[in-house]
Amino acid sequence: AAPSGQPGASSLALAGREPQAGLEAVFPREVGLFADTFPEETRYGFCGHVLIIAQHHGARLGVAAPVWEAALALCKYFEEQKLNFRGKTVIELGAGTGIVGILATLLGGDVTITDLPLALKQIQENVHRNVPAEHSAQARVCALSWGLDHEEFLRDYDFILGADIVYLKDTYSLLIKTLRHLCGPRSTIYLSSKMRQEHSTVVFYEALLPLHFSLELVYRDEKENINIYRVTSKEIS
Ligand SMILES: C[S@@+](CC[C@H](N)C(=O)[O-])C[C@H]1O[C@@H](n2cnc3c(N)ncnc32)[C@H](O)[C@@H]1O
Repeated sequence: AAPSGQPGASSLALAGREPQAGLEAVFPREVGLFADTFPEETRYGFCGHVLIIAQHHGARLGVAAPVWEAALALCKYFEEQKLNFRGKTVIELGAGTGIVGILATLLGGDVTITDLPLALKQIQENVHRNVPAEHSAQARVCALSWGLDHEEFLRDYDFILGADIVYLKDTYSLLIKTLRHLCGPRSTIYLSSKMRQEHSTVVFYEALLPLHFSLELVYRDEKENINIYRVTSKEIS
């Protein structure tokens, strides 16, 4: 089931620019890979950085294509809290377009941006587009399927980030398994979620996650029904 609700507003979409032509100008060899999709470029501003994010809407990428409101809420939270990732190791789960991980890279982090294999090309495009070449080593894009691949990744990242990744009940135990592997005693997890009744998002935060983690609600957008939680491990403290 796809998550309900609107993806992040595209009101800032580049005015007067043909999306396909825009993409071809920037990624002439890649665009054929997305022939069955409807591409869009949207411009966002956070923490003094302008991000231009390609979203390849269509059946192939599904929910990984758009920027979701929970991702924008997390970027806004970084801005409001003046979060600094300088010198910190960061991993993003279920990154979709990669907007959150890209912002963390621009804020100085050493960032691993992950999703299912189908989303990686889109994320790579967006990293290439937004991260200056001299910082490209700070943003790695890798496949990480929750519950399956996490052992290939470090334990004890400084920050673990996820936006709108709590929407498929069948994946909740897999996601928790991955979080338990990645999260060490000095790790901070930020999860931003649209709190959907129909997908038992509340159950994940109120019943499942607290079995292994301590949670603090650090931000709530009442209108959008989005919560941001700061989460730390209970197990290794
Ligand atoms: C609703 S989208 C959110 C995308 C992005 N974080 C955002 O907020 O704009 C959910 C993301 O989780 C990813 N995802 C779903 N199931 C996954 C799994 N089992 N392992 C890894 N990623 C998964 C999807 O590919 C998708 O990119």
